[in-house]
Amino acid sequence: MLFFIISKTSFFVYNLLAIVNSLIPFRQKKGGLMSRALVIALLIVPLIGFAQIASAESFTCLACHGAMKGKIKTDKGSFIEVNIDEERFSKSVHGGIECTVCHKTFKDNPHEAPKGEVPKNVSELASLVSSKAKIDPVAYAACSECHGDIYTQVSQSIHGRNIMEKKQSDGALCNDCHGSPHYVAPAKSKASLVNKWNVVKTCGECHQNEAIAKKYNLGTHIIEKYEESFHGKKHKLGHAGVPTCVDCHGAHGIKKWDDPASPVAWGNRVVMCGKCHPGANKKFVASITHKPLGKDNPIPYFAEKGLIILTVSTIGFVILHVFLEAYADIRDRVFRKGKEDSHD
Ligand code: HEC
Ligand code: HEC
Ligand code: HEC
Ligand code: HEC
Ligand code: HEC
Ligand code: HEC
Ligand code: HEC
Repeated sequence: MLFFIISKTSFFVYNLLAIVNSLIPFRQKKGGLMSRALVIALLIVPLIGFAQIASAESFTCLACHGAMKGKIKTDKGSFIEVNIDEERFSKSVHGGIECTVCHKTFKDNPHEAPKGEVPKNVSELASLVSSKAKIDPVAYAACSECHGDIYTQVSQSIHGRNIMEKKQSDGALCNDCHGSPHYVAPAKSKASLVNKWNVVKTCGECHQNEAIAKKYNLGTHIIEKYEESFHGKKHKLGHAGVPTCVDCHGAHGIKKWDDPASPVAWGNRVVMCGKCHPGANKKFVASITHKPLGKDNPIPYFAEKGLIILTVSTIGFVILHVFLEAYADIRDRVFRKGKEDSHD
């Protein structure tokens, strides 16, 4: 017991010194403390139980990152959170992985200039995703070491190509759909951003954004039209069998809708809808679209126009009918009065 207390206490002192140490070189960096907008509130590192949560190397990273709070401004101008919630991290799918398996260049504790070794394929991929990464493209490329096939699919998707070929940051990469890599939950779990009940909102983060729609000439009513569709209404009511975005478009390999490789391209749509609607034919598969009513979506457009004409003319007939009836009534009473009276 005594040994336990001594070892914990010395570890505490070591880390406290490390934290202080890390703050000194900080002031010497360009711009100084204030302009880097660093707001660190050091909390007392909770010692007991710490070691059981994470592995030894993560412990030293977490000694600071578990206790620091606040955001720093990156060179690109975005803000990143320095705090890693160690409990959430340890419960996530990556809880058993050392920080440096992904953050390969952050070898030292505390880290000054990152200088760890990076395999060639990871560093090549890192430069491809540099437009998306906020702070550490190497960590963002490291996913490929364990999820290689998925990474390749994403690279070839419309989202990945937006980043890797067009060098934009608007397309979706892993973290846009799965959230922070530190807190990823299995896709089936309630907490996952990509599960059946959250994925529409996750895609909507960008596909409801007017600026993105305008920049890439995409429909602006995607989410709205989905929610108005038969599928979307049933989804809202909790029907688990109706398709969400990914049942029709796929998840990692999403293509432009008219790309022959897209499951929603005209040539593949009978097969795609046919997964759930056996016997679907060309006419049936044209019934679902995100396109707002208009020239691009003629069948429902003219159907709706026809309905309006029908409604207006029906009301017109009713009004005409009432007037004619009233006229006939007045005519009978006024003009035919004498005639009727003569019967008596
Ligand atoms: C002694 C405290 C301390 C330790 C230990 C520590 N960090 Fe940091 N870390 C910081 C501080 C302070 C910042 C924010 C300031 C900065 O460097 O820009 C930071 C920032 C970061 C960033 C954001 C990128 C950056 O350069 O600002 C990453 C990623 C990171 N740390 C990863 C790690 C990893 C991985 C480990 C373990 C190998 C680790 N840290 C260990 C204090 C620490
Ligand atoms: C599964 C891979 C992976 C693991 C494990 C991992 N990170 Fe990260 N981390 C990333 C990626 C990817 C980013 C985002 C990089 C970017 O956008 O440039 C990131 C970002 C960060 C940041 C910046 C703030 C943020 O959340 O975006 C900090 C700080 C950080 N990591 C610290 C750590 C520490 C400390 C550990 C260990 C407890 C750790 N990371 C474990 C992949 C990982
Ligand atoms: C060292 C190997 C390793 C690295 C690197 C790694 N992962 Fe994982 N990842 C795993 C393991 C193991 C699991 C849990 C088992 C599984 O479901 O595949 C997992 C699970 C996942 C899941 C959830 C899978 C599910 O069940 O729904 C996602 C999403 C994920 N990782 C994304 C990433 C991202 C994004 C990165 C890069 C920031 C990354 N991973 C880096 C090993 C890794
Ligand atoms: C456009 C959104 C999107 C992007 C980008 C994305 N994912 Fe996924 N991911 C999903 C969805 C949705 C699922 C749920 C499973 C499904 O429906 O296919 C999933 C499932 C997973 C799984 C577990 C299931 C499986 O297929 O093995 C892993 C692991 C994973 N993603 C890793 C990654 C990695 C790594 C990246 C980056 C290279 C990434 N994802 C990028 C949406 C995305
Ligand atoms: C029932 C299948 C189905 C579902 C569910 C579905 N889509 Fe689509 N999507 C299509 C089809 C078919 C097209 C082809 C163009 C059209 O008719 O709108 C398409 C086209 C698109 C386009 C390009 C349209 C344009 O005008 O630029 C985007 C973006 C898109 N879908 C995103 C989504 C998102 C996000 C979701 C989830 C809210 C979703 N889709 C759900 C079938 C579906
Ligand atoms: C981080 C933002 C972002 C997220 C999240 C996102 N997308 Fe996209 N998506 C884009 C951008 C940007 C484009 C256009 C890229 C280009 O043309 O270079 C695009 C294009 C598409 C297209 C092709 C549109 C066409 O012209 O036919 C489809 C389909 C699509 N996304 C579906 C989805 C689905 C489904 C999800 C959720 C699983 C999703 N997206 C999540 C940003 C995003
Ligand atoms: C993941 C399975 C799935 C996919 C893929 C799918 N649907 Fe559906 N669809 C359903 C379910 C489930 C219902 C609701 C059945 C019910 O409750 O009556 C439904 C209902 C419909 C309805 C309402 C009337 C009816 O026939 O029940 C239409 C129309 C429809 N889907 C068209 C399509 C079209 C077109 C596609 C392809 C673009 C498609 N669906 C793709 C599962 C799917």
